[in-house]
Amino acid sequence: MTFQTIFDERGSLTVVDTGLPFSIQRLYYVYGVPSDQERGSHAHKKLEQILIPVHGSLEVLLDDGNSSERIVLDDPTKGLYIPKMAWRTLCNFSKDAVLLVIVSLAYDKEDYVRNYDEFLKFVNA
Ligand code: TYD
Repeated sequence: MTFQTIFDERGSLTVVDTGLPFSIQRLYYVYGVPSDQERGSHAHKKLEQILIPVHGSLEVLLDDGNSSERIVLDDPTKGLYIPKMAWRTLCNFSKDAVLLVIVSLAYDKEDYVRNYDEFLKFVNA
């Protein structure tokens, strides 16, 4: 999804407001990730989220249990929507990467699926 962005000689301003597929319950940001480290490697039973690379770049490997795709996030005017029950792995963070994550639900560790075989069972159930 592409967000409204106002560019002028003073810099850029990106607005995240209307048209989101969920109402925002929480946000967090991830930064200082060493380039050899991966994050994620889980799915969520109910939670949806949008990843926005507000600075720098990273790669997301998205897997719905049937097929997977690798997506480069490097544009702060765009967000990647991740639906529930999608296995995601985040890697190749640039040194300066700051990833903003907008989320549909409060934190609940019971919403995580951290075992890939269990994820496949959920998907195929
Ligand atoms: P996790 O969601 O596993 O992060 P990532 O997918 O980037 O690897 O969360 C990492 C740790 O932070 C884990 O111990 C749970 C904790 N955490 C919270 O306490 N509250 C939150 O809102 C989030 C997102 C994570």
